[in-house]
Amino acid sequence: MASQTPPPLLLLLLVGWSSASLQETRKPNFVLMMVDDLGIGDLGCYGNTSLRTPNIDRLALEGVRLTQHIAAASLCTPSRAAFLTGRYPIRSGMSGSSRPGVFLFTAASGGLPPTELTFAKIAKQQGYQTALIGKWHLGLNCGSSEDHCHHPHAHGFSFFFGVPLTNLRDCQPGHGTVFRIHRYLPYGTFVVVLLSAAALHYSGALPLRRGLLLGLLVLVLVLAGLTAGFVWTGPYLNCVLFRDRSIVEQPFRSENLTQRMTREAVVFMERNAARPFLLFFSFLQVHTAMFASAAFRGTSRHGVYGDAVHEVDWSVGQIMQTLGRLGLRDNTLVYLSSDQGAHLEELSAAGEVHRGSNGIYKAGKSTSWEGGIRVPGILSWSGRIPAGVEISEPVSNMDLFPTVVRLSGAAVPKDRWGLPERSRTFRKVEQQHTRPERLCLTCRVIDGHDLMDLLQGREERSRHEFLFHYCNSYLNAVRWHPRNSSSVWKAFFFTPNFYPEGQAACFHTHVCFCTPDYVTHHDPPLLFDLSRDPSESRPLTADTEPAFRSVVAAMTEAAESHRTSVQPVESQFSAEKLMWKPWLQPCCSSFRQLCQCQQEPERA
Ligand SMILES: *[C@@H]1O[C@H](CO)[C@@H](O)[C@H](O)[C@H]1NC(C)=O
Ligand SMILES: *[C@@H]1O[C@H](CO)[C@@H](O)[C@H](O)[C@H]1NC(C)=O
Ligand SMILES: *[C@@H]1O[C@H](CO)[C@@H](O)[C@H](O)[C@H]1NC(C)=O
Repeated sequence: MASQTPPPLLLLLLVGWSSASLQETRKPNFVLMMVDDLGIGDLGCYGNTSLRTPNIDRLALEGVRLTQHIAAASLCTPSRAAFLTGRYPIRSGMSGSSRPGVFLFTAASGGLPPTELTFAKIAKQQGYQTALIGKWHLGLNCGSSEDHCHHPHAHGFSFFFGVPLTNLRDCQPGHGTVFRIHRYLPYGTFVVVLLSAAALHYSGALPLRRGLLLGLLVLVLVLAGLTAGFVWTGPYLNCVLFRDRSIVEQPFRSENLTQRMTREAVVFMERNAARPFLLFFSFLQVHTAMFASAAFRGTSRHGVYGDAVHEVDWSVGQIMQTLGRLGLRDNTLVYLSSDQGAHLEELSAAGEVHRGSNGIYKAGKSTSWEGGIRVPGILSWSGRIPAGVEISEPVSNMDLFPTVVRLSGAAVPKDRWGLPERSRTFRKVEQQHTRPERLCLTCRVIDGHDLMDLLQGREERSRHEFLFHYCNSYLNAVRWHPRNSSSVWKAFFFTPNFYPEGQAACFHTHVCFCTPDYVTHHDPPLLFDLSRDPSESRPLTADTEPAFRSVVAAMTEAAESHRTSVQPVESQFSAEKLMWKPWLQPCCSSFRQLCQCQQEPERA
């Protein structure tokens, strides 16, 4: 009967309506790009005039450029932990109280705890295809060389092509090492051996035990041998390239690596063009050992550092072209940032400048001066985020967590720890929940805020009234953007001691340290108003700033209340967790073959 077939017009309307609503409700893709150690002053769109970054500049023109985008930490491991979890690294135990502040061994047992929730894990639960391509630096194993308890797979990334640690000086021959002990080790060993041998020789005349001396001598030789062996095999042990759970190259070749990573990203996007995906593209560049593929070598006026920036820009261009070709630009949120400021102390073994530029901002990586934490921040999503807009409100790299989680269709988690949800104590705490950062005793504190209202112009002010700047696990400084003023106050409780003085860097230790013996404490805190003095060159005093006392009092109180919101957790940076453990060492061949592996055939 005719009445059983709907009239064609109605059918068309229905089809039109349903495809429109499909467009509306289709979940956006995410392409999140993070460059390593890139300075805010290295990009054309942030004012660099001699490096060429046309692809990144175009991305900024097509979206929002943040000028006060703050990394939650000034070092890789904690900053990345915060980025993925939306929480200050101290809350997950991902910051240490001594040196170093990052993982230095692939075979260490510290890492992002499995109890932490990353945005990738949540997106995956929301039906997303998820991938991490490039650097991880958040741990690998806990108890055996293949348990992969901290592997990207354990944190929601279904696909992984990259390096569980980071690019290190040791990863390329001729670039030196990050293990500073060995510079004096040969001499020290030599002296000890010489003295022991002499003592042994004359021990007949001295009241000394030959056996004890001999034992000492052997011990020293064994330790020296192990250390030398470690420095020599470092690249084989630490510089490992994985595809999912298997090692494909050990040590990895940096030649063409960014190009291979880019190709992996393109293939991943092509394969998943029809479903929602989340790609975290995490460059190994521009960290030392500095490298650039043949096509980029010699293209910049800033040595291999500049060449590497050019290669990064090329890669961004390839990724954006792919999104365009697949017709995904209006359905993809793209983000580009750096994990922290440029590492100013980086000079090559031959003295070539391997550092980036933090523009007008003071100091760099491993400090809470603006140069260490104010990073590029570009967000683009055609049709959804306005183009060519600059936002100068203080925002954090932790904000990506709630932003991605909400857009993926999930609610920002506030799951409970410790107390059963129906218990009386729990409900009491929940009732008091007017200021979560103060009273959140049982819930997972998320420190980031959803950025969409700010990006889309529905809000003018950042939701961060305060931001806290940590140097490792020490609360170093506070930033306050009072609701009623345009000031951005920054108060330091301590600052690193620079060396040589006046250089705004710590050349004697290669990075600035935060441990008490390397810093100067300030009481009252050292106060700046970044809205008037972005370069932090004129500390304010009670004489020069009428509001000095009330501002410092408000900031000190905020710091106290923040401190009480931090629950003690197991540190992932204890000496025991950080040390190299042979039984955790990923090794693709045998130890006798130095864990060496064939190169992976390059993908066509
Ligand atoms: C890097 O790529 C170039 C061009 O594709 C190629 O000629 C070169 O052999 C590659 N290098 C390595 C080490 O594979
Ligand atoms: C551009 O970047 C290079 C390399 O980091 C740096 O040496 C130079 O000073 C920067 N130029 C400007 C104008 O910031
Ligand atoms: C802004 O608010 C603070 C309290 O939050 C107050 O102490 C201060 O006087 C106010 N400043 C102005 C300019 O209204």
